Amino acid sequence: MNIKFFKETEVKKEKTILDIAEDLSIKIKSPCNGKGKCGKCIVKVISGKVSEPTKCEEDLLGKKNLGQGYRLACETTVIDDTEIELIK
Ligand code: FES
Repeated sequence: MNIKFFKETEVKKEKTILDIAEDLSIKIKSPCNGKGKCGKCIVKVISGKVSEPTKCEEDLLGKKNLGQGYRLACETTVIDDTEIELIK
């Protein structure tokens, strides 16, 4: 059985996915407190416009995962309407 929950918000300025999730009280694992070191805050960008991958995303996720839409929530900034999937 699969269940999808949707939560939508308006963001006034560019913010990271982690910051937006925190604003919405959505928990994303972030043991390194958003410093781009632990690689635990993985989300999947389904659609929309986000920042280009950072060096630490390339190091922690690799090109294959990045190509499939996986990103680090603390390193990825939302630029325009975007749909994000949370990963357990
Ligand atoms: S919170 Fe550790 S890499 Fe994003």
